[in-house]
Parts: sequence; structure tokens; C-alpha cells
Amino acid sequence: MIQMKDVYKKYPNGIVAANGITVDIKQGEFVYVVGPSGAGKSTFIKMMYREEKPTSGDIIINGINLAKIKSKKVPLLRRQIGVVFQDFKLLPRMNVYENVAFALEVIEESPKVIRKRVMEVLDLVGLKHKARMFPTELSGGEQQRISIARSIVNRPKLVIADEPTGNLDPDTSWEIMNIFKEINSRGTTIIMATHNKEIVNTLKHRVIAVEGGMIARDEAEGDYGYEI
Ligand SMILES: Nc1ncnc2c1ncn2[C@@H]1O[C@H](COP(=O)(O)OP(=O)(O)OP(=O)(O)O)[C@@H](O)[C@H]1O
Ligand SMILES: [Mg+2]
Repeated sequence: MIQMKDVYKKYPNGIVAANGITVDIKQGEFVYVVGPSGAGKSTFIKMMYREEKPTSGDIIINGINLAKIKSKKVPLLRRQIGVVFQDFKLLPRMNVYENVAFALEVIEESPKVIRKRVMEVLDLVGLKHKARMFPTELSGGEQQRISIARSIVNRPKLVIADEPTGNLDPDTSWEIMNIFKEINSRGTTIIMATHNKEIVNTLKHRVIAVEGGMIARDEAEGDYGYEI
């Protein structure tokens, strides 16, 4: 599903955040991306949804080379990838339902389809009953559930999450992980950057460790491998 070949990324300030990354990720995999702060984890995953463009190298997702596509094609690509952030990024003036429906409204789905799909994903994350509430009225864990619902409402084959449990307490983090587990069990590929040692060492999946912009380790059922 994802093939990166010799990917190199130098930011305008001269920092090299990806220094020759070659990796292959298959449809349906669950991949943790670990490594020290500043190692290049976010850069690595941002290049997968063209938030950042590689300086050189190829990134092929479902046959499309992201290093080569024109900027105007980027929105089309983004609709095929769900993205979840540490700080949720919900729209504060929209209620829960509207935050999730938004992704379908921009692709002009019919109101009937929108309603059905939104309620389905809200049900999956256990928050159907809070559809009319606003993000500020929700706990951090609930906001993250909504942002996960939003990320999958388009039914993407790939969901990318950058430290999705970074702002959450341990119990809430596990609830969020169970949702990702469920999404992955339905065939969706999940790529998750995380500093959560306990989760990585307990809910075993492939681990890619990034250090100094390079892949230091790539193990099928790996450990977190760092002290913090
Ligand atoms: N937009 C940017 N412009 C310039 N330099 C950047 C930019 N984004 C990241 N960097 C630099 O690239 C390097 C890798 O950053 P990145 O955010 O990918 O690390 P990370 O592994 O995600 O770290 P953390 O665990 O703290 O989130 C760092 O040295 C950082 O300062
Ligand atoms: Mg990061």
C-alpha cells in the first residue's frame, strides 16, 4: 500500500528530518512509529499525506507517487487518508455531528448518506448520544473519539495518527487504542507515531523506530525500546 524509496527531506532551515528512508507497508498492517523527540517521526508520516513534500525520493501510495503529484491533486488524495492528531483539531463552532459530517459535505454526498454514515461512525466510537454537543463540552478522550470518527467517515483504507494518546490519561488512551484496534480489524491500515511505551509493548504490532531521520529498527512485533 505504501512504498517509500530513498526518501530525503531537508526543511528550508537546513534540518534534514528524513535521511534516506526506504520502507514498505502493506494493506491492513498496524504500524507504530517510535523514536526520540525530534527524530523525524512526524515528518515521516506527514509525507504520507503530503502535508510535507519530500526533497527527493519516491512515496507511492496505492500506485500514486506523492512526490510527483501536483498541489491541486492533494485534496483528492487527502480524502482517501484519515488523519488523527494529538490535539484533536475539531472545529469549535461546529457541533459533534457537523464536525464529522463536514468531511462528507465537501464531497457532496447526499444528506441521506451523510446522516447514515455519520451516525454509524459516532456509534462505533460510542458517542452517538453526544451528536449535538460542541467540542468544548467534551472531555479530551471524547474529543479524540470524535476526531477518529471524522477520520474514518470517508471510509479511507489508511488512517495516520500522530501521537493520538499524547494528551490523554492511561485509561482513556486504552479506550482510544481499542477503537483503532477495531478499525484495523476491519481491514484499514493504521500508522501511528507514539511515545506510549506501555501501549506499544502490550498491544503488539510492527514497530518502526526512527532516529536521526533514518529507520533504526523495523520489527514485526517489536518493543518500544526506549526508556521514556
Ligand atoms: N516545519 C519545519 N521546519 C523546519 N524544521 C522542522 C519542521 N518540522 C520539523 N522540523 C525539524 O525536523 C526534525 C524532525 O522533526 P519531527 O517533528 O519530524 O520529529 P518527531 O520525531 O515527530 O518529534 P516529537 O517526538 O517531538 O514529535 C526536528 O529537528 C525538527 O526541529
Ligand atoms: Mg512528532
